[in-house]
Amino acid sequence: MKKIITYGTYDLLHEGHINLLRRVKELGDYLIVGVTSDSFDRGRGKLNVRNNVLERVEAVKATGYADEVIIEDYLGQKIDDIQRYDVDIFAIGSDWEGKFDYLNEYCKVIYLPRTEGISSTMLREQTEEVYRIGIVGSGRIAKRFVPESKVVNSAKVIAVYDPNKESADEFGEMFGLKVFSDRYDDFLSEIDAVYVASSHLTHYEYTKQSLCAGKHVLCEIPFVLSTVQARELYDFAETHNLVLLEASKTAFCPSFNHLVTLVKSGVIGDVVDVKTSLSKMVTAPTRELDAAQAGGAMNEHAPLNMMAIIKLLGKDYSKVDFYSKMENDVDIYTKVNICYPRATASMTLGIGVKTEGNMVISGTKGYVYVPAPWWLTDFFEIRYEDQTKNKKYFYSYDGDGLRYEIQEFMSMIVNQRKSSYKLRQRESVAIAEVIEKFNQRENFKEI
Ligand code: CTP
Repeated sequence: MKKIITYGTYDLLHEGHINLLRRVKELGDYLIVGVTSDSFDRGRGKLNVRNNVLERVEAVKATGYADEVIIEDYLGQKIDDIQRYDVDIFAIGSDWEGKFDYLNEYCKVIYLPRTEGISSTMLREQTEEVYRIGIVGSGRIAKRFVPESKVVNSAKVIAVYDPNKESADEFGEMFGLKVFSDRYDDFLSEIDAVYVASSHLTHYEYTKQSLCAGKHVLCEIPFVLSTVQARELYDFAETHNLVLLEASKTAFCPSFNHLVTLVKSGVIGDVVDVKTSLSKMVTAPTRELDAAQAGGAMNEHAPLNMMAIIKLLGKDYSKVDFYSKMENDVDIYTKVNICYPRATASMTLGIGVKTEGNMVISGTKGYVYVPAPWWLTDFFEIRYEDQTKNKKYFYSYDGDGLRYEIQEFMSMIVNQRKSSYKLRQRESVAIAEVIEKFNQRENFKEI
């Protein structure tokens, strides 16, 4: 029996796929089709695949050509599969000409002519609505957003708004965007969605005005510094059918999501303590050291750290204490202790004190160690008393990592989903609550 194997994503299954599967099947007696898993596709930078792996497997099965469908989940798997299934021929479309010659060592490699004029990419583009995004602010984070948005098909950044005309002009020129620095309404009238990346204290106003004008909003951290404001904005978005998402980038990263699901499924037993730390040294003059611009380690770093604690332990803590080292009314270092009914958590945050930036999640069976910088998670280890049971997890953290939050934001807009399980509105409000308590100096001690 002659065994053939072929691989693909098979998104939005089309005539090109069907032609290829038919011809591949004709090469032998038994056809194995490898369909890429969702995480493998993400790892290869394919963020825009429309059908999930189950839908794609079903579509391939429905062609009737595959005798067996397998999932391709890791780099190098083709060599394993060819040997494991005792494959005679590896066949693939001519767009891959030469790329799989290394498999000749294991079986015969055949490239078949591709069907001209059709591809999944083309179909996705044809059916995809493109949403025009405007950026408010033209600082560091905004500069990272534009290149990252390019890997998400439905997002197209077209405009920038910054009351500082010089900065707006420079940003607009750098990325080829329409520039606005005067009337915010004019800016809003040109776009469908807003990315608010301005200074902390302006988030509420820009978000509110954008929502009132019927625009979806992705707002940088810290979202807002008061729970009343946070609730008001989420309620407004909800009743007006708009997406409002806090841009807590780590919350949307595949590696962090996997970490949370592993912990929640009990791999380290009951979670008893979460310890996170984040420091970035800054030197004056900078807004981070300016009390009038809501500077300080808490406002700067609590959003990401609190997000992780809330994802792991929930939002219903019973007590929170703050210990800060202050300079000119700004906390250059804050240690936060958070008590839960059956667990504890702490975060160590610095802008003028350097700390190790790792995360440790301790449980009744073991612990998770995420080395610094934990918020750019690309590796973590689950450790046990019996070290032979330890397990390491590696991920690729693509680009600046903003692509995952942009993808989630766009997916919410496209699919009319008002809430993201990766960061619920109530979780976002709880983050604002802790920051607000600090700013009101509740349970606060200067050290
Ligand atoms: N294929 C083909 N003719 C086409 C499109 C795809 O023969 N017009 C083949 C590919 O060469 C591959 C298989 O179908 O052997 C699965 O390809 P896949 O990458 O899933 O499809 P594309 O349409 O090329 O997807 P994308 O646009 O996302 O790259």
